[in-house]
Amino acid sequence: MLPWFNSPFCPLYLAPMAGVTDSVFRRLCKEQGADVMVSEFVSADGILHRNQRTREMIYFHPVERPLGIQLFGADPERMAAAAEAVVEWGAPDFIDLNFGCPVNKVVCKHGGSALLRDCPLLEKVAGTVVRKLHPFPVTAKIRLGWDQTSINALTTAKILEDAGIQAIAIHGRTKDQGYSGDADWDQIARVASAVSVPVIGNGDLRSAIDIGCRIRETGVRGLMIGRAAMNNPWIFRQARAFLRSGVVVPDVGLEEKWNHILRHCRMAVAENQEEEFTMASMRGRLMAYSRGMRNGRQLRGELQRVTKIEQLEQIRDRHLTQSEEEALAVDTVETA
Ligand SMILES: Cc1cc2nc3c(=O)[nH]c(=O)nc-3n(C[C@H](O)[C@H](O)[C@H](O)COP(=O)(O)O)c2cc1C
Repeated sequence: MLPWFNSPFCPLYLAPMAGVTDSVFRRLCKEQGADVMVSEFVSADGILHRNQRTREMIYFHPVERPLGIQLFGADPERMAAAAEAVVEWGAPDFIDLNFGCPVNKVVCKHGGSALLRDCPLLEKVAGTVVRKLHPFPVTAKIRLGWDQTSINALTTAKILEDAGIQAIAIHGRTKDQGYSGDADWDQIARVASAVSVPVIGNGDLRSAIDIGCRIRETGVRGLMIGRAAMNNPWIFRQARAFLRSGVVVPDVGLEEKWNHILRHCRMAVAENQEEEFTMASMRGRLMAYSRGMRNGRQLRGELQRVTKIEQLEQIRDRHLTQSEEEALAVDTVETA
C-alpha cells in the first residue's frame, strides 16, 4: 500500500496538467497542503531519446515528495524501458501511466485514452511496466471510457488492479467529452467500491465543500484537484481545514493573492533565468489567477502584454489602489 493512503486523512493530489504543473507550481501547491504530486505527462519516446526538454520535464525538488512521474506511450517494452530510465535518473516515488489523455497527437499514436478502447494493449502496457519495475510502485490515471456508449472504467480498473497497479486516478469524463459536461462521480464511486486498490476521484472539484461531499458520498481514497488550483492554490489548505474540523476558510484577500502571483512569477523567472520568455509563458497562468478578480476585463488586457516582473508590480499597485477606491466608494454610498 502506498504510504499516503495509510493516513487518517484522504490524500489530496495535485492533478497532472501539461504546461501548468511544473516544479515551481507544484512547490507552491505543496506549501498550501497538497499531499501528492504527479508531473505533467512525459513521452516514453522522449525519455528514450534522452532529449533535453524531456529531462527538464522530469526535474523535481525534494520538497515536492511524494511525487510520481507520469508517462504516456503505447509500446509496452518502450514504456517499461522509459519507466526504468526515469526511476534511475530521478528516483521519483512512483511512476504513473497516462491512459486518459484525449489530445489527438497522443491518441493517434494509440497512447493516452486510445488504450481505453484497446484493453488487451492496456493490460500489456501496465503489466510490462509493473513487472519491469517491481517492487517499485506504478499507478495509473484513466477516464470513464472512450465515449458514452463505451464506458468501461470498471473493466479497465479491474485489469489495472490485476496487472499490479497500486492506485488508480479516475477523471469522471469520457475521452469524447474532453472537458465538457460534468464529471460523473456515480461512475467513479461504482469503481471505487468494486476494486481493492485505492481509487482517486477527479473532476470538477472547485471548493473545500465539494471535496468534503465527494469523500463522504463516493468511497474514494484520494481526491485529485486540477483546474481549480490554477486560480486558487489555497484550495488544498481550505479543504484540509474543512476535512479536519468542518471549518470553511474564506478565500484569500486581494493583496495576498497578488503577493502569491508575484512570488510565482519571480520563482519561475529565477528557475528559467530568462525574464521575457518566462513572463510570456506565464500569461496563461496570470489569466487563470485573474478569474474572479475585480475589473477582470481591463486586468486581463494588461496581463496579456506583460513581459517583465516590474510591469506586473505596477499592474498590481494600480489594481489594488483601484479596488480599494471602488470598495470605499461602495461603502460611502451604502452608509450615506
Ligand atoms: C491544461 C491541462 C493539462 C492537462 N494535462 C494532463 C496531463 O499531462 N496528464 C493527465 O493525466 N491529465 C492532464 N490533464 C487532466 C487533469 O489532470 C484533470 O484530469 C482534469 O483537468 C479534470 O480535473 P479538474 O476538473 O480538477 O481540472 C490536463 C488538464 C488541463 C486543464
